[in-house]
Amino acid sequence: MKTVQILDKKFALSINEQSIQKEVTRVAQEINRDLKDKEPIFVSVLNGSFMFTADLMRQITIPSKITFVKLASYEGVASTGVIKEVMGLSEDIQGRTVVIVEDIVDTGLTMQRLLETLGTRHPKEIHIATFFVKPDKLKVNLNIEYAAMKIPNDFIVGYGLDYDGYGRNLPEIYTLVE
Ligand code: IMP
Ligand code: MG
Repeated sequence: MKTVQILDKKFALSINEQSIQKEVTRVAQEINRDLKDKEPIFVSVLNGSFMFTADLMRQITIPSKITFVKLASYEGVASTGVIKEVMGLSEDIQGRTVVIVEDIVDTGLTMQRLLETLGTRHPKEIHIATFFVKPDKLKVNLNIEYAAMKIPNDFIVGYGLDYDGYGRNLPEIYTLVE
Protein backbone atom coordinates (compact mmCIF):
# COMPACT_ATOMS: atom_id res chain seq x y z
CA MET A 1 0.00 0.00 0.00
CA LYS A 2 1.36 3.41 -0.95
CA THR A 3 1.75 5.70 2.05
CA VAL A 4 2.99 9.22 2.74
CA GLN A 5 4.32 10.72 5.93
CA ILE A 6 3.16 14.26 6.65
CA LEU A 7 4.61 15.79 9.81
CA ASP A 8 3.73 13.33 12.60
CA LYS A 9 1.08 11.39 10.70
CA LYS A 10 0.94 8.56 8.20
CA PHE A 11 -1.56 8.52 5.35
CA ALA A 12 -2.43 5.72 2.95
CA LEU A 13 -3.50 6.08 -0.68
CA SER A 14 -7.27 5.75 -0.90
CA ILE A 15 -8.50 7.39 -4.13
CA ASN A 16 -6.41 7.45 -7.29
CA GLU A 17 -6.17 10.24 -9.87
CA GLN A 18 -8.23 8.44 -12.45
CA SER A 19 -11.20 8.03 -10.09
CA ILE A 20 -10.98 11.70 -9.15
CA GLN A 21 -10.90 12.89 -12.75
CA LYS A 22 -13.82 10.68 -13.72
CA GLU A 23 -16.03 12.38 -11.11
CA VAL A 24 -14.79 15.86 -12.08
CA THR A 25 -15.89 15.15 -15.63
CA ARG A 26 -19.31 13.97 -14.48
CA VAL A 27 -19.89 17.09 -12.35
CA ALA A 28 -18.71 19.38 -15.17
CA GLN A 29 -21.15 17.72 -17.56
CA GLU A 30 -24.01 18.16 -15.11
CA ILE A 31 -23.23 21.85 -14.67
CA ASN A 32 -22.83 22.37 -18.44
CA ARG A 33 -26.25 20.82 -18.91
CA ASP A 34 -28.12 22.45 -16.00
CA LEU A 35 -26.73 25.98 -16.21
CA LYS A 36 -26.42 26.27 -19.96
CA ASP A 37 -28.33 29.52 -20.37
CA LYS A 38 -27.49 31.08 -17.01
CA GLU A 39 -23.99 32.48 -17.48
CA PRO A 40 -22.98 31.40 -13.99
CA ILE A 41 -20.29 32.99 -11.85
CA PHE A 42 -18.15 30.36 -10.18
CA VAL A 43 -16.97 31.40 -6.72
CA SER A 44 -14.01 29.25 -5.76
CA VAL A 45 -13.19 29.06 -2.08
CA LEU A 46 -9.46 29.22 -1.38
CA ASN A 47 -7.24 27.58 -0.37
CA GLY A 48 -8.58 24.04 -0.55
CA SER A 49 -10.55 24.20 -3.78
CA PHE A 50 -7.77 25.40 -6.08
CA MET A 51 -7.11 22.00 -7.62
CA PHE A 52 -10.74 20.95 -8.07
CA THR A 53 -11.53 24.40 -9.47
CA ALA A 54 -8.74 24.19 -12.05
CA ASP A 55 -9.76 20.71 -13.19
CA LEU A 56 -13.46 21.55 -13.21
CA MET A 57 -13.14 24.82 -15.13
CA ARG A 58 -11.16 23.16 -17.92
CA GLN A 59 -14.26 21.13 -18.62
CA ILE A 60 -16.84 23.90 -18.32
CA THR A 61 -17.92 24.79 -21.83
CA ILE A 62 -20.76 27.24 -21.17
CA PRO A 63 -20.27 31.03 -20.92
CA SER A 64 -19.23 31.76 -17.35
CA LYS A 65 -17.02 33.82 -15.08
CA ILE A 66 -14.80 32.79 -12.21
CA THR A 67 -13.78 34.60 -9.07
CA PHE A 68 -12.07 33.60 -5.82
CA VAL A 69 -12.77 34.20 -2.17
CA LYS A 70 -10.88 33.26 0.91
CA LEU A 71 -12.31 32.52 4.32
CA ALA A 72 -10.61 34.02 7.31
CA SER A 73 -11.25 32.06 10.47
CA TYR A 74 -10.73 33.33 13.96
CA GLU A 75 -11.87 32.32 17.41
CA GLY A 76 -15.46 33.23 18.08
CA VAL A 77 -16.40 35.91 20.53
CA ALA A 78 -18.51 33.49 22.51
CA SER A 79 -18.27 29.72 22.80
CA THR A 80 -19.78 29.32 19.35
CA GLY A 81 -16.52 28.02 17.93
CA VAL A 82 -14.95 29.33 14.79
CA ILE A 83 -16.46 32.21 12.86
CA LYS A 84 -15.51 32.73 9.27
CA GLU A 85 -15.34 35.91 7.31
CA VAL A 86 -15.47 36.00 3.54
CA MET A 87 -12.65 38.01 2.03
CA GLY A 88 -12.20 39.36 -1.43
CA LEU A 89 -15.46 38.93 -3.29
CA SER A 90 -14.69 41.49 -5.96
CA GLU A 91 -17.24 40.39 -8.54
CA ASP A 92 -20.76 41.86 -8.58
CA ILE A 93 -23.10 38.89 -8.14
CA GLN A 94 -26.36 40.77 -7.96
CA GLY A 95 -29.01 39.06 -10.07
CA ARG A 96 -26.55 36.38 -11.16
CA THR A 97 -26.43 32.60 -10.92
CA VAL A 98 -23.63 31.69 -8.54
CA VAL A 99 -21.89 28.33 -8.17
CA ILE A 100 -19.82 27.95 -5.03
CA VAL A 101 -16.85 25.64 -5.65
CA GLU A 102 -15.53 23.93 -2.52
CA ASP A 103 -13.10 21.14 -1.78
CA ILE A 104 -15.08 19.49 0.99
CA VAL A 105 -18.25 19.92 3.00
CA ASP A 106 -17.75 18.38 6.42
CA THR A 107 -20.12 19.73 9.11
CA GLY A 108 -21.45 22.19 6.52
CA LEU A 109 -21.01 25.17 8.83
CA THR A 110 -18.53 26.86 6.52
CA MET A 111 -20.88 26.44 3.59
CA GLN A 112 -23.82 27.75 5.59
CA ARG A 113 -21.84 30.85 6.53
CA LEU A 114 -20.83 31.35 2.92
CA LEU A 115 -24.41 31.05 1.70
CA GLU A 116 -25.51 33.67 4.24
CA THR A 117 -22.75 36.08 3.26
CA LEU A 118 -23.19 35.70 -0.49
CA GLY A 119 -26.95 35.95 -0.01
CA THR A 120 -26.60 39.54 1.24
CA ARG A 121 -25.25 40.46 -2.23
CA HIS A 122 -28.59 39.53 -3.83
CA PRO A 123 -27.64 36.84 -6.34
CA LYS A 124 -30.47 35.30 -8.34
CA GLU A 125 -29.59 31.81 -7.12
CA ILE A 126 -26.73 29.94 -5.49
CA HIS A 127 -25.71 26.38 -6.36
CA ILE A 128 -23.18 24.29 -4.46
CA ALA A 129 -20.44 22.25 -6.12
CA THR A 130 -18.06 20.41 -3.83
CA PHE A 131 -15.58 17.71 -4.54
CA PHE A 132 -16.12 15.83 -1.28
CA VAL A 133 -18.97 15.56 1.14
CA LYS A 134 -18.97 13.62 4.40
CA PRO A 135 -22.72 12.95 4.71
CA ASP A 136 -22.51 11.46 8.21
CA LYS A 137 -20.94 14.62 9.59
CA LEU A 138 -23.34 17.16 8.10
CA LYS A 139 -24.87 19.24 10.88
CA VAL A 140 -26.95 21.59 8.78
CA ASN A 141 -29.45 21.11 6.00
CA LEU A 142 -27.77 21.95 2.68
CA ASN A 143 -28.93 21.36 -0.86
CA ILE A 144 -25.69 20.07 -2.38
CA GLU A 145 -26.55 19.66 -6.04
CA TYR A 146 -23.08 18.87 -7.32
CA ALA A 147 -21.00 16.52 -5.20
CA ALA A 148 -18.22 14.57 -6.88
CA MET A 149 -17.66 12.03 -4.10
CA LYS A 150 -19.31 11.01 -0.86
CA ILE A 151 -16.82 9.72 1.68
CA PRO A 152 -16.82 8.34 5.24
CA ASN A 153 -15.74 10.37 8.27
CA ASP A 154 -12.01 9.76 7.90
CA PHE A 155 -9.51 12.61 7.71
CA ILE A 156 -8.02 12.92 4.23
CA VAL A 157 -5.29 14.90 2.46
CA GLY A 158 -4.41 15.60 -1.15
CA TYR A 159 -6.15 17.15 -4.14
CA GLY A 160 -6.13 20.54 -2.39
CA LEU A 161 -6.87 19.27 1.11
CA ASP A 162 -4.22 19.71 3.76
CA TYR A 163 -2.92 18.53 7.07
CA ASP A 164 -1.55 21.58 8.83
CA GLY A 165 -0.86 23.23 5.48
CA TYR A 166 0.90 20.25 3.90
CA GLY A 167 -0.27 17.70 1.36
CA ARG A 168 -2.37 19.96 -0.86
CA ASN A 169 -0.16 19.21 -3.85
CA LEU A 170 -0.81 15.47 -3.86
CA PRO A 171 -2.75 14.57 -7.02
CA GLU A 172 -4.55 11.70 -5.32
CA ILE A 173 -6.28 11.22 -1.96
CA TYR A 174 -4.67 9.76 1.14
CA THR A 175 -6.50 8.71 4.30
CA LEU A 176 -5.13 9.04 7.81
CA VAL A 177 -3.82 5.78 9.22
CA GLU A 178 -4.88 5.70 12.87
P1 IMP B 1 -17.01 22.36 7.68
O1 IMP B 1 -17.28 23.79 8.02
O2 IMP B 1 -17.08 21.48 8.90
O3 IMP B 1 -17.89 21.82 6.58
O4 IMP B 1 -15.50 22.23 7.29
C1 IMP B 1 -15.02 22.60 6.11
C2 IMP B 1 -13.51 22.74 6.12
O5 IMP B 1 -12.86 21.81 7.02
C3 IMP B 1 -12.99 22.39 4.77
O6 IMP B 1 -13.05 23.50 3.90
C4 IMP B 1 -11.60 21.91 5.06
O7 IMP B 1 -10.72 23.00 5.12
C5 IMP B 1 -11.69 21.28 6.43
N1 IMP B 1 -11.79 19.81 6.37
C6 IMP B 1 -12.87 19.04 6.65
N2 IMP B 1 -12.60 17.73 6.51
C7 IMP B 1 -11.30 17.66 6.12
C8 IMP B 1 -10.42 16.55 5.80
O8 IMP B 1 -10.76 15.35 5.85
N3 IMP B 1 -9.15 16.88 5.44
C9 IMP B 1 -8.71 18.17 5.36
N4 IMP B 1 -9.50 19.22 5.65
C10 IMP B 1 -10.78 18.98 6.03
MG1 MG C 1 -12.44 24.54 1.94
